[in-house]
Amino acid sequence: MPSFPTIRMRRMRDKPGLRDMVRETRISALDFIYPMFVVHGRDTRVEVPPMPGVYQLSLDHLVHEVGELYDLGIRSVMLFGIPEHKDEWGSDAYSPTGIIQGAIEVIKQTVPEMMVIGDVCLCEFTSHGHCGVLNGNGVDNDATLELLGQMAVRQAEAGVDMVAPSAMMDGQVAAIRNALDEADFENLPIMAYSAKYASGFYGPFRVAADSTPQFGDRAGYQMDTPNVREAMREIALDIEEGADMVMVKPALAYLDVLRTAREKFATPIAAYNVSGEYSMVKAAAENEWIDGRRITMEILTSIKRAGADVILSYHAKEVAEWLQSERR
Ligand code: PBG
Repeated sequence: MPSFPTIRMRRMRDKPGLRDMVRETRISALDFIYPMFVVHGRDTRVEVPPMPGVYQLSLDHLVHEVGELYDLGIRSVMLFGIPEHKDEWGSDAYSPTGIIQGAIEVIKQTVPEMMVIGDVCLCEFTSHGHCGVLNGNGVDNDATLELLGQMAVRQAEAGVDMVAPSAMMDGQVAAIRNALDEADFENLPIMAYSAKYASGFYGPFRVAADSTPQFGDRAGYQMDTPNVREAMREIALDIEEGADMVMVKPALAYLDVLRTAREKFATPIAAYNVSGEYSMVKAAAENEWIDGRRITMEILTSIKRAGADVILSYHAKEVAEWLQSERR
């Protein structure tokens, strides 16, 4: 093997054109799923304080925004709904007139090519803010499965393109697969939030989705931060239960989990660049402590380099705008 001075690694770094030629990881608008928050009412567009650039949108604004995203080259959105009324059972989640169902319908009517993914979890819909229904001891896993199945079927009836269970109930993928198949939606794919950790990085999302648990925390159902082998078991189980795609979440503090999963599984893998990761970049950039654009691209590239096929990110829209302006 030749080495220095025959080999000079700097040769291929010397010009932008050469760096472009040998770049191993590229980011495009097609890499993203853009998460959006939908509220009831009209003409509502409320910025989420810890997440500059992210809004709670009523359906009229949602449709407008989805059209803009499509023009920017984004082909997929993920919907989170904030219902008008919450109750103990999260009824709006699986009502035919629920907020997510309404949002799916208007998007499919106006921008039918946009892939619409529905989050399947009860936390935004329950008065107590937990991801399922309660019994005396906390969240009742098996009773919740039935409701998650109904929620997925309602979204399917509204025209959703994929459902994404995020409640971290055991058996949720199988329960949803069965419910969808029984309702003749056997071709509707499931993206499972398989390795979803009990993370402090979800803080700003809980403001955006108004889903902070009113007592306790989610540590009894979401994964324990230090574990990686357990994540591989979660992913393997979800694939066995019929997941068409799996997810690692959060992304940045879990790139090792993403890389390990990539090496072990052939199933498409999504990574969720979550709200806290976004807020940290925005806060530091607003203070001019970091170069926000540069760091955003570096972070997203690292997630893709670690093995993600697709990235859920609140940065997706601005990145699509940057990419478009670079092409001009
Ligand atoms: C649960 C859900 C959460 C997120 C996505 N789906 C919150 C939670 O588990 O507390 C967090 C996403 C983010 O932080 O951006 N429905």
